[in-house]
Amino acid sequence: MVSHTLPALAAAIASVANSGFGLMRPGSAGFRVRDERPRDVEAREALLDRGFGPARFTKTSERLREGRLPAEGLSFVAVCGGAIVGTLRFWSIEAGRHPSLLLGPLAVESAYRSAGIGRALIEHGLKRAGKLGHGSVMLVGDAPYYARFGFSAAPVSRLVLPGPVDPARFLGLELVPGALAGASGRVVGAGLLVSRREPEPLRLAA
Ligand SMILES: CC(C)(COP(=O)(O)OP(=O)(O)OC[C@H]1O[C@@H](n2cnc3c(N)ncnc32)[C@H](O)[C@@H]1OP(=O)(O)O)[C@@H](O)C(=O)NCCC(=O)NCCS
Repeated sequence: MVSHTLPALAAAIASVANSGFGLMRPGSAGFRVRDERPRDVEAREALLDRGFGPARFTKTSERLREGRLPAEGLSFVAVCGGAIVGTLRFWSIEAGRHPSLLLGPLAVESAYRSAGIGRALIEHGLKRAGKLGHGSVMLVGDAPYYARFGFSAAPVSRLVLPGPVDPARFLGLELVPGALAGASGRVVGAGLLVSRREPEPLRLAA
């Protein structure tokens, strides 16, 4: 678990949100990133619904996640004042013949944005992924945001996702140099399949 202090601006936003919508608790001075727990699922799903809307289930990335569990040890939430204010999970995939991870969905509660929560989730997640022995991560997202973490289109330029995607938004990162060298071909989901008896996921995130 990692704790962070919110910048003054975010604290000001928090106090406004507090008075109007109860999104933040009075006196909340920071957030922490921790592993997701089973009881976080409902709040996480509601946060993703607010962040992405119904389109979350139509995304090409979802084709790699549907019917599967997230990668072991790689589901995180950001918590502030007892509330789930951010979520990030990673998923096992095969990229060509290279084992890899898909990053996402990433979402931060709107009143808490630009306070470093997204960055903290990604940095925490990438560090954990490296510790767990994963060599690379890919995602579909905005390059201007993800470039700051080292993601670029080059490592995945010869890989094909299972659906339409803007090539400028398909990005990869090698955690281990050379992990994606020569990677080409189809990207497919490789995570454990959801058991019918599993309570989670009720609906998989986009
Ligand atoms: C994208 C998102 C997770 C960022 O969370 P966050 O906690 O605000 O992120 P950080 O605090 O680490 O970074 C904020 C900075 O990133 C910038 N940023 C946010 N989204 C961006 C984007 N799509 N493209 C470029 N820059 C972006 C912000 O303008 C801000 O810049 P600043 O530091 O100069 O003010 C959040 O905006 C969100 O949940 N959006 C809706 C869901 C979504 O789009 N998820 C990502 C899918 S690709």
